[in-house]
Amino acid sequence: MITPPAKRRKPGPALLAWYDAHRRDLPWRARPGERADPYAVWLSEIMLQQTAVATVKGYFEKFLSRWPTVEALAAAPIEEVLAAWAGLGYYARARNLHVVAARVARDYGGRFPESEAGLLALPGIGPYTAAAVAAIAFDQPCAAVDGNVERVITRLYAIETPARQAKPLIREKVEALLPPARAGDFAQALMDLGATVCTPRAPDCGVCPWSAGCAAFAAGKQEAYPAKGKKVEKPKRRGAIFILRRGEEALLSRRPEKGLFGGMSAFPSTPFARDVGPQEQLRHAPCAADWRALPQPVAHVFTHFALAATVFVAQAEGEAPLLPDCRWAARRNLDREGLPTLMRKAAVLAGLI
Ligand code: ADE
Repeated sequence: MITPPAKRRKPGPALLAWYDAHRRDLPWRARPGERADPYAVWLSEIMLQQTAVATVKGYFEKFLSRWPTVEALAAAPIEEVLAAWAGLGYYARARNLHVVAARVARDYGGRFPESEAGLLALPGIGPYTAAAVAAIAFDQPCAAVDGNVERVITRLYAIETPARQAKPLIREKVEALLPPARAGDFAQALMDLGATVCTPRAPDCGVCPWSAGCAAFAAGKQEAYPAKGKKVEKPKRRGAIFILRRGEEALLSRRPEKGLFGGMSAFPSTPFARDVGPQEQLRHAPCAADWRALPQPVAHVFTHFALAATVFVAQAEGEAPLLPDCRWAARRNLDREGLPTLMRKAAVLAGLI
C-alpha cells in the first residue's frame, strides 16, 4: 500500500536518517561530526570515476599514505604517480591528477576551489565530479548524478526516457530533493542507497526510506528503470604487442607523452587501429627477431574501443639495434613496473608473470 503524501516524511530528512544508520564506512569519508578533507574527497572521486569502490579503497589508502597532502602529490615525479596508478586504468586521470595537484598547490595556496564552477574549470573534473566534491567537501547544495543516482531517481519518478537523454531532468529532480543542510551527506546517502538498496537487480525495497513514494515500486516495475537506450557497440580495434626476451629480462619502452598510456612503461606495440596483417604489424617490432605470435590475442575494453591485440614473443639475438626509449627490465620486477593492465595481461599470456 502507498502511504498517503500527508503522512510521509519529507524525502530529504528520511534519506539522511537512513544514512545515519546505514552509511558505508569508506576510507575517504569523514566520520560524523568531522570535516571532510577536500584533497581526500577529490582524490577519491577521481579514482571512483571509472572504477568500483572495492578496487579504489586500496589505491586510495596507498596514495594518501604516500602523498598525504596536495602539496606532496604536486611534488611527486609524474612517473611515480603513474606507476602507483597502474592497474586502475584510464591513465589520463592520473596525469590530470598531477596537473590539478600542481595548480592547487602553486596557484591556489593548497586550497581547492569550493564552488562547482571553480572545480569544473580544473582538468579531469566533469559535472558529476565537480558537484560531488563541492557537496561532499564543502557542503554546497549540488546535485551529483552518477549511475547509481540515475537509477534511484528514474525509479522514484518512473522516468521513461533513457538515462542519457534524461540527465537534465534527473538533475532537476535531485536539486528539488536537496535538504536545507548536510548537502554532502545527502549526496553520499544517495550514492549509498543506489549501491546497497536500489541495486540494478532485485532491489531491497523493503528497507528503502523512499519506497512509499517510489513510482516504480508502486507499479512493481523497479527493474524497468533506468529505461534502456539503444546499445552502442564499441568500435573494435586491432594491433600487436611485442615481448622481446633476453634471459630473465624483457624489453620495455616508454610511451610518448601524448595518447594512450602516455608516459608509462609498456611493451612496444603497433598503434591500435584497424586490422592489418602480421607482416604489416611486424614493421613496428622493436628489432628484427624470430617473432612468434601466441595462439590467443589479448583482449581489453577501453572507454572508446575494444581491443584484441596479437602478442608476439621473441628472444633477443646478439646486440640487435633497439628503438629509442627502450630498456631491459628484470622479469621478476615486472609486477612493480606499473604496467598498464593491457600490458600486464600480455605478460601473463606470455608466461612472464
Ligand atoms: N561513488 C562515487 N563517489 C562515491 C562516494 N563518495 N562514495 C561512495 N561511492 C561513490
